[in-house]
Amino acid sequence: MPFPAERPRRLRATPTLRRMVRETTLSPNDFIYPLFITEGEKVRKPVSSMPEVFQLSIDEAVKELAEVVDLGIPAIDLFGVPKEKDLHGVHAVDDNGLIQRCIRAMKDKYPDLVVMTDVCLCEWLSHGHCGLVQGEQILNDPTLDVLSHMAVSHAKAGADIVSPSDMMDGRVGAIRAALDSAGFTNTPIMAYSAKFASAFYGPFREAAEGAPQFGDRTTYQMDPANAREALKEVLQDLAEAADIVMVKPALPYLDIIRQVRDAVNVPVAAYNVSGEYAMLWAAARNGWIDLDRAMMEVLTGIKRAGADLMLTYFAKRASRLLRIQP
Ligand code: PBG
Repeated sequence: MPFPAERPRRLRATPTLRRMVRETTLSPNDFIYPLFITEGEKVRKPVSSMPEVFQLSIDEAVKELAEVVDLGIPAIDLFGVPKEKDLHGVHAVDDNGLIQRCIRAMKDKYPDLVVMTDVCLCEWLSHGHCGLVQGEQILNDPTLDVLSHMAVSHAKAGADIVSPSDMMDGRVGAIRAALDSAGFTNTPIMAYSAKFASAFYGPFREAAEGAPQFGDRTTYQMDPANAREALKEVLQDLAEAADIVMVKPALPYLDIIRQVRDAVNVPVAAYNVSGEYAMLWAAARNGWIDLDRAMMEVLTGIKRAGADLMLTYFAKRASRLLRIQP
């Protein structure tokens, strides 16, 4: 009788054995938790398409940090949901603006927490595009000035890392130069380097109230079909001195995450975006999948693909679970 000598099942026999030979493990250190900040006080407004996600006023967001810090999550990323929008992004660059006040309140209470900020104009411009517009054109170079001011203003307020998500050409270099000349030579940039024009941003646009009012983002975000171009974008951002590069979304782009991880020597982040979050929740609420198991499998997959850091709305839920089952 020909018995197999090779029996991979030997090392799968018990939970302890499986734990010993596990190649990829998740930790709260892997997570960056996105927060949506809105005006007012005591505001905690649920986002209907994203269960357990809220628009929070600054006071509520600061309260939220107690659990984030307690769970060992090292960083949050702030997205603004301002009341007032205009054609120039005036409120985005205001040293006393919503995000700037939020950063100060957070750093005041939690100086060790890494406060990252989204540097992009879609939430601050009345038409919802990520750059200044002329007619239906999204202007590249004039946008760089505003983004640079925004990043410096965040750094002045105490932001630990700034994170441009706009996809204008040359923004990493422009922001780096602006930070340096303002004296913030040590403020890192996490660049959304390969950000694809994705249908999976749908729920975020409800959460951040930043859907474009005309056209779409295909003239600045990347074509989902392009992998070589993703590497080009990553290398260009590194040439402009990005400190961390990001691939976004995560799940339909695991191959890109792996290629980027193999190509560069900086930390690689991946954004497990709103649609990826909503889709798991929707299936779970229908009784079609087990949410916690699917969540851990997805996050493990993103890490196994090569992400060192993950932006995920599951950060708290996954960290709570890791506390019980490390
Ligand atoms: C916009 C921005 C988007 C996301 C992060 N920053 C949406 C977009 O480009 O339309 C998406 C995040 C998510 O879907 O979770 N600068």
